[in-house]
Amino acid sequence: MTDKLKKLPPAMLTLDNKTYELPTLIGVEGEKAIDISKLRNQSGYVTLDEGYGNTASCESAITYIDGEKGILRYRGYPIEELAEHSRFVEVAYLLLNGELPNSQQLLDFSTNLNESSIIHEDMHHFFNGFPRGSHPMGILATMVASLSTFYPLPDRLDSATEQQVVINLISQVRTIAAFSYKKSIGEPLVYPSYKLKFVRNFLNMMFASPVRDYELDEDIVRAIDMFLILHADHEQNCSTSSVRTSGSSMANVYAVASSGISALWGPRHGGANQHVIQMLEQIHADGGDGTEFINQAKDKNSTSRLMGFGHRVYKNFDPRAMVLKKQCDKLLNKAGVNDPLFDIARRLEELALKDDYFISRKLYPNVDFYSGLILRAAGIPTNMFTVLFAIGRMPGWLAHWREMLKGDQVIITRPRQLYVGEPLRHFQDIDQRP
Ligand code: CMC
Repeated sequence: MTDKLKKLPPAMLTLDNKTYELPTLIGVEGEKAIDISKLRNQSGYVTLDEGYGNTASCESAITYIDGEKGILRYRGYPIEELAEHSRFVEVAYLLLNGELPNSQQLLDFSTNLNESSIIHEDMHHFFNGFPRGSHPMGILATMVASLSTFYPLPDRLDSATEQQVVINLISQVRTIAAFSYKKSIGEPLVYPSYKLKFVRNFLNMMFASPVRDYELDEDIVRAIDMFLILHADHEQNCSTSSVRTSGSSMANVYAVASSGISALWGPRHGGANQHVIQMLEQIHADGGDGTEFINQAKDKNSTSRLMGFGHRVYKNFDPRAMVLKKQCDKLLNKAGVNDPLFDIARRLEELALKDDYFISRKLYPNVDFYSGLILRAAGIPTNMFTVLFAIGRMPGWLAHWREMLKGDQVIITRPRQLYVGEPLRHFQDIDQRP
């Protein structure tokens, strides 16, 4: 336990006529917790918390969220300030190192990212092996895991190697993402350029070709950079928890990052950005105003949900969505960009925010509601949206992985369960079974 956590008077818990003293703690922003780590040993009881909505799985100094007040801070800095004044590479440095870099540190970090962007030449053959139309998230998860075979690592990393591997991954994931897109459209790969910075380099690898230069639009570069900043970390979300869980087995960092990518893919998590656009396109094609989608999402007999709405933690507003909505407005108001899906999104948001179903459950637009419109305006194909989320989230995943390894001791993640299967029964020979 770090000395940042203060102790409060213990909680008293009475079970089976015995009273147990449970330590209580308070974090630096006032969040309170009951420490139940010895409860099972002392009482035989475990706690039950499906989905971990009430469980702090670790101590962390990386990101702070207050879901009721709509607060998100990386290393203490409000997301709104970082989105306005910073750039993704600087934010990545902040997440990994705890402090904003000075000019020299930023230059070194940025140069190192640039120099680490190439992937092993033999990996190109793998791209050819995926069937046409493969989802780029499947390719990304596979290729990131396969880095472990091209760049094998010792079981224990010294800190210089660890730092370099982290930088390699942040840079290489972007190259792999662009290459998987190029393969999917049958165009030759465009290599990373030493002359271009992080986002420009990525857009160039995606959209340039030997017969066509890519004209970089400053507003688009800025919008993608902001998108990456807003997605860079989000404390113990599903994919980061997967990263911490797989990392706790001391698996290699490429396998760990790949587990984060796989968890992110799902439509309830990072995959929602793709599904929001598909939903808006469907509404556009049907010519309705979205009422039908809203009704379906409210129907208890249907599994459909209003994509881009609701959040496990934010119960008032998602600060990332507020920043992105403004950015979206700006980008789409630019001459020449006229996306009917933006108007549909605005109308849908208005309808849902007036609807008692969404009001009573505190369901508001989340980061994914507007992010897809920005990516569309940048010309990013819909099936690449979650890949961009993964590029943005990589520094966050790796900051958590490193933080976990630096703890006093790495405890393997191993929750308990309440068994509800068959009680003891004995094996029957096959001819005696019903
Ligand atoms: N549309 C309709 N109903 C919803 C929605 C939605 N988008 N989200 C939650 N609900 C309902 C849910 O059916 C439940 O109703 P009831 O109380 O009647 O059973 C109630 O609201 C609470 O839902 P929950 O599933 O217990 O809430 P959760 O905190 O476990 O889920 C969520 C959070 C994000 C998975 C969920 O809101 C959802 O599926 N949203 C749509 C997918 C989405 O946009 N995901 C992106 C999340 S933001 C990006 C990221 O960080 O991953």
